[in-house]
Amino acid sequence: MIGRNKKNIFLLFILSLSIITSLISCVELKKSRPIKPIKEYERLITGRLDADYVGTKACLAACHEHDEIRKAFDASTMGAQLKRDSGMPLVDCESCHGPGSLAIKGITKELVEANLKKGIKTKCNYKTLIDIKSLPAPAKSLICLKCHTANATFNLHEWNGGIHAINDVTCIDCHNIHKGPDLKVKPREIANMCFKCHEDIKAYYFMPSRHPVFQEKVFCTDCHDPHGTTTEHLLRKPTVRQTCTQCHGDKEGPFLYEHGDLTEECTTCHLPHGSPNNNLLKLREPFLCFQCHEGHVINTLDGSTISLEEKRYLFSKCTDCHSMIHGTDIPSPSGKGRFIQ
Ligand code: HEC
Ligand code: HEC
Ligand code: HEC
Ligand code: HEC
Ligand code: HEC
Ligand code: HEC
Ligand code: HEC
Ligand code: HEC
Ligand code: HEC
Repeated sequence: MIGRNKKNIFLLFILSLSIITSLISCVELKKSRPIKPIKEYERLITGRLDADYVGTKACLAACHEHDEIRKAFDASTMGAQLKRDSGMPLVDCESCHGPGSLAIKGITKELVEANLKKGIKTKCNYKTLIDIKSLPAPAKSLICLKCHTANATFNLHEWNGGIHAINDVTCIDCHNIHKGPDLKVKPREIANMCFKCHEDIKAYYFMPSRHPVFQEKVFCTDCHDPHGTTTEHLLRKPTVRQTCTQCHGDKEGPFLYEHGDLTEECTTCHLPHGSPNNNLLKLREPFLCFQCHEGHVINTLDGSTISLEEKRYLFSKCTDCHSMIHGTDIPSPSGKGRFIQ
């Protein structure tokens, strides 16, 4: 008996020990740690294992050629807010351009000034740096992804499987690193940035009915995530319907009288970007409705019937009467749901 109890106590001890250690390791896992830039990696890309990192200060000490670039960069999120004690990876020129010792070899303040007197601008030896322009597309993006891992930058979770990455679109096709302090694409520049490659979509925004993208009330990125999604067409939401009802909540339902299961797909009747027909409709009324319904004879509104001989078909705008076409909770005069009110 005693032996058994001892064994139990021993087991209990082991059990609690393992619970405690796993708790400790959970806490360890939860702690965020700075991501260390993988420096060796850049040396490999330059193909020069003899190059060394000298730091931005050394890079720019003698030569003022890149002062503007530096000013803009220092003011950017990557530059400004990331001081050494922030725990974030320090981003400097060499984080993207590779180790710089060979590029500035032999360049001194004196040489720069002497050259300047002769009217010559001193250039560093760019050839020893990473030739970003000539890298294959996935490698260009890797320059960014080594820090912007899926864990560090949440919206890059689906980058690798995204249609942009697959089609060799790179981070720097959309993000201008040196055009000023804004690394992020400014909201009002998004549409035109996308149109560089999506000309065909641009045309829709000149049609009579369109989402107010040029008016900066709706942005491409309200609906799409250019960094990749698990859904089709890079949509942020799982379905087109959810994409639409995030802003048009009144069409979401559920209604007592639904329009069949049509409103499951808003794009049965609507185009997302623009349309020559009003209300972004794919087809003009009544033709939109005639795809699935026939015109009909009805009782006139004052109660008298239009005789069948008259055969006054209402080949007009069906939604003049069927105004609640997206669904309603109120029955029509016959007691059915015909979207009259
Ligand atoms: C986050 C990555 C990144 C950092 C950090 C960075 N650059 Fe760049 N730099 C780039 C990219 C990308 C290009 C554009 C390559 C191309 O032309 O496609 C570029 C281009 C340049 C060019 C060529 C400009 C031109 O108009 O062709 C210079 C010069 C330059 N960078 C200097 C610097 C200096 C100086 C620093 C530090 C203050 C710096 N860069 C920091 C990514 C970076
Ligand atoms: C050495 C690490 C490192 C590299 C390389 C790097 N970044 Fe960053 N970047 C950061 C950090 C850290 C931040 C600030 C924290 C954040 O916003 O995630 C940042 C911020 C940004 C932001 C601004 C986010 C905001 O909210 O304002 C953009 C955009 C960005 N980086 C794009 C890029 C692109 C494009 C590249 C490649 C050309 C690149 N980065 C390369 C570390 C890096
Ligand atoms: C097709 C264009 C496009 C590509 C390619 C692209 N981006 Fe972006 N990125 C944008 C736009 C537009 C925004 C701003 C709107 C937004 O928040 O989605 C943005 C925002 C960001 C932000 C800020 C995120 C935040 O939460 O505010 C970071 C960081 C970033 N991009 C990094 C990257 C990196 C790294 C790559 C490459 C792996 C990349 N982007 C590729 C268009 C692009
Ligand atoms: C109101 C939401 C919304 C906005 C804003 C939006 N889109 Fe779309 N986009 C969609 C939907 C929904 C689809 C899928 C259409 C379908 O299923 O037929 C789509 C499809 C696309 C496609 C692929 C299909 C095609 O027709 O070639 C591209 C490319 C595209 N959008 C680019 C853009 C660009 C660029 C912008 C900004 C100028 C933009 N979108 C703004 C909702 C939107
Ligand atoms: C450098 C060129 C480039 C830029 C800039 C660009 N795209 Fe694309 N985009 C492509 C390519 C290439 C494809 C894949 C081929 C295709 O479907 O056209 C694609 C595909 C797409 C698709 C999916 C098309 C489909 O049929 O499913 C959408 C949606 C899209 N892009 C939206 C955007 C949005 C929104 C922006 C701006 C934030 C943008 N793109 C910026 C080149 C670009
Ligand atoms: C980010 C918010 C947003 C999203 C997402 C959105 N819309 Fe809109 N929609 C608007 C705004 C804003 C207007 C303009 C309203 C106005 O001008 O009064 C509008 C107008 C419309 C109109 C009327 C257009 C006209 O010519 O008067 C239709 C139809 C429409 N949206 C359908 C859709 C469909 C279908 C989707 C999904 C593909 C969608 N919307 C997604 C914001 C959005
Ligand atoms: C059966 C076709 C059909 C479907 C499906 C449909 N709509 Fe409509 N929608 C219309 C018609 C027709 C109009 C024009 C109504 C009018 O002229 O009074 C319209 C108008 C609109 C308008 C602008 C006028 C208003 O009432 O605000 C919005 C926004 C809209 N629809 C959003 C949606 C959304 C979101 C979905 C998906 C949940 C959707 N529609 C599905 C036919 C449809
Ligand atoms: C893609 C096919 C399709 C389109 C387009 C369409 N509908 Fe429908 N509609 C249906 C279906 C399916 C039902 C459900 C029929 C049922 O429940 O018996 C329905 C039901 C209705 C009803 C109720 C009929 C009943 O017997 O209670 C009315 C009214 C109606 N639609 C009007 C319209 C109008 C007006 C339009 C054009 C703005 C339109 N529909 C566009 C497919 C369509
Ligand atoms: C002048 C108003 C008016 C117009 C215009 C109109 N309807 Fe109707 N519709 C009605 C009324 C009223 C009913 C009967 C509602 C009830 O009491 O149930 C009805 C019923 C229907 C029904 C179900 C009844 C059936 O068995 O036919 C459909 C489907 C329908 N309409 C489709 C259409 C289409 C498609 C158009 C456009 C071509 C259209 N309506 C135009 C007023 C109208």
